[in-house]
Amino acid sequence: MRILGIETSCDETAAAVVENGKRIISNVIASQIDIHARYGGIVPEVASRQHLLAIVPVVEKAMTEARVSWQDIDGIAVTFGPGLAGSLLVGVNAAKAIALANGLPLVGVNHLEAHICANWLEGEKPVEFPCLCLVVSGGHSDLILMKGQTQFEKLGQTRDDAAGEALDKAARILGLGYPGGPAIEQAAEKGTPCLNFPRAWLRGSYDFSFSGLKTSLWHLVQKEQVSVVDTAASFQWAIVDVLVSKTVEAARDMEVKAILLSGGVAANLRLREHFAERSPVPIFIPSPILCTDNAAMVAACGYYRFQAGESSGYDIDVVPGLSLG
Ligand code: KG4
Ligand code: ZN
Repeated sequence: MRILGIETSCDETAAAVVENGKRIISNVIASQIDIHARYGGIVPEVASRQHLLAIVPVVEKAMTEARVSWQDIDGIAVTFGPGLAGSLLVGVNAAKAIALANGLPLVGVNHLEAHICANWLEGEKPVEFPCLCLVVSGGHSDLILMKGQTQFEKLGQTRDDAAGEALDKAARILGLGYPGGPAIEQAAEKGTPCLNFPRAWLRGSYDFSFSGLKTSLWHLVQKEQVSVVDTAASFQWAIVDVLVSKTVEAARDMEVKAILLSGGVAANLRLREHFAERSPVPIFIPSPILCTDNAAMVAACGYYRFQAGESSGYDIDVVPGLSLG
């Protein structure tokens, strides 16, 4: 079964063709990072306008690179939430138009579930259920218990800033540019984590909190001249430490068979290494290019939804505040 996936929830316009939820035939991503970097963060109006310009060429490129025609496609999957309303609308309307014009079934996909499904795109070894999913992106830091391919139960989430959001804001404070995660990671490579930033453990809960950490950084740079690289390394370490410790604890409590990482922050090398060192169960992490937003993960997710007998019809509404589990 070949699925065309479409993703426009934030600042990447993406389309991909994936076979049986596993084999990536094409994976096209048009990033708007350079445009938003000028403003130090994503400007929603600019994002939706860029999606409008890019969506048709990106879909055409995904089809051309896959060397397929519409007769070779069995269904279309599109992200309908969570995300920026104006951005989501572009992808959803394009998907509806293509599906309708070609008589193809359409399924709306949850962006967070799609991030998790990136773990099935390259895997040699099978994922066993139940597993614990940590989705860490610019908007989310969610701990989700996955009991089956389409069964999710949320255990915890951030109470304020998401991990990626905290990294983006910290990079701004340190003058490292946008997007902050990769900028902090690069600077951290040259420093040592010698500063002891506070960690919000929120004992007895699987929730996270990163806004106090960001405030602590703000006060530090107001008070004294800091080494940017040591501060970046220490800030990154404070986030990695909490994410890994709380996820490992939840994995033990829930007696899961595996831990699955996903979302843009999962591209972080330090986070990947530390999980590999400390996880009590097999750990799955997509390649960095499949951690950040892409449409192959949307096509994979759509495949499992179609397999479960779902189809959305042609009247999907966008749900910007959609959650998972
Ligand atoms: O999943 P994603 O591409 O978009 C959302 O759904 O939000 O995640 C983007 C987030 C941004 O906050 C970005 O700074 C962060 O992921 N990120 C990273 C890295 N690459 C992207 N954070 C840490 N290390 C990285 N290498
Ligand atoms: Zn994302």
